[in-house]
Amino acid sequence: MNILLLGAGGFIGVNLTERLLKDGGHQLTAVDISEDKLEHLLDAPGLNYAHLDISTDEAKIEELVKVADVVVDLVAFANPALYVEDPVGVYDLNFTQNLKVVDQCRKHDKRLVQFSTCEVYGLTAAKAFGLDSKENPCPFNEDETPLIMGPIKNHRWIYACAKQLLERVLHAYRHRDGFRYSIIRPFNFVGPRIDYLPSEAGGGNPRVFSHFMDSLLYGTKPMQLVDGGEVFRAYTYIDDAVDCIVRVIENKKGNCDGEIFNVGQPENELTIAELAERMRDVFDKHFRQEGDPPRPEIVSISSEEFYGAGYEDCDRRIADVTKAKTLLDWKPQYDIDQVIFKTMEYFVDEHRKKQANGTVASAVAAV
Ligand SMILES: NC(=O)c1ccc[n+]([C@@H]2O[C@H](COP(=O)([O-])OP(=O)(O)OC[C@H]3O[C@@H](n4cnc5c(N)ncnc54)[C@H](O)[C@@H]3O)[C@@H](O)[C@H]2O)c1
Repeated sequence: MNILLLGAGGFIGVNLTERLLKDGGHQLTAVDISEDKLEHLLDAPGLNYAHLDISTDEAKIEELVKVADVVVDLVAFANPALYVEDPVGVYDLNFTQNLKVVDQCRKHDKRLVQFSTCEVYGLTAAKAFGLDSKENPCPFNEDETPLIMGPIKNHRWIYACAKQLLERVLHAYRHRDGFRYSIIRPFNFVGPRIDYLPSEAGGGNPRVFSHFMDSLLYGTKPMQLVDGGEVFRAYTYIDDAVDCIVRVIENKKGNCDGEIFNVGQPENELTIAELAERMRDVFDKHFRQEGDPPRPEIVSISSEEFYGAGYEDCDRRIADVTKAKTLLDWKPQYDIDQVIFKTMEYFVDEHRKKQANGTVASAVAAV
């Protein structure tokens, strides 16, 4: 198949590209505005890379869409800090610019695999009705569960709303014209190349695993739990996730069109406070070396202080993955201990390489 991967230079994109290249049998075109994470793959046979912006390079993107068998759209702002800092930018990229890709796929009758998010489910019904979601676990089902967003003043929800609206537009085009699409709703993927460490990037606000790794490896700040870290997350190892995504892209049984897939590992649930404790213990047990900073403290910080006004969090996200199991014969393999260990191993390996070639000191000095 000729597969066009938009946003291939991101965390999921690079892991997906690696896997598709390893499997072989496909011609891949990778598009992104950043190739940092893809550098090791740029000369790989079977891969063409194009540095293009979906917002401004429409004509060139359209040429690529025309010759593709399937278009995979991963492009988005996917970082909670940005939902609060730049809600208009999030809406523009995640809905308006992505809609252009949808229109090109419709025009040229191409199948689209669109990345959405588990955040479209929003708050659990328990939370919305003032009940304790701990006592009322309620797995999110793709085709049954209502989508419950917080109030407009909490502009964090613009990410989920933009993704939800795009999903609804895809559904409407299928309903009217038979448009061929599949939607992926990722549930907290982690693994190699997830995000940068703020101490190395000179600041920034990446996703939580990277923040905690930064505290463990650089010790520049404690492990900070936003609003006490009481929310639940169920982490999915990227290899499991990619295995499912490849099945949707290849669509070997021809049963993915018009389907939304939760991609997650519901058994890997813990609170963010538990994640911090577990990461600290795993680091001490398996990775700590002489010269590392002392075991960091775990402290609570208000969401307003951490993100700014307008933040509100999804209380709990349990994926019902029955559909992926039934239609795709897929089952996640990695438990939470393996997910934490393998992701941490990646960060520590990268850090030790930097220590060995002397670039850590300059990275810290640059902060
Ligand atoms: N990682 C997760 O657990 C998770 C969870 C929920 C949803 N998602 C969704 O999955 C998709 C991929 O997520 P990710 O974690 O790989 O995010 P990411 O931020 O690592 O990757 C997104 C990529 O899009 C690229 N991009 C941004 N603007 C672009 C533009 N105008 N033109 C071309 N490329 C552009 C970025 O450079 C980046 O490489 C996103 O749609 C995201 O919303 C991911």
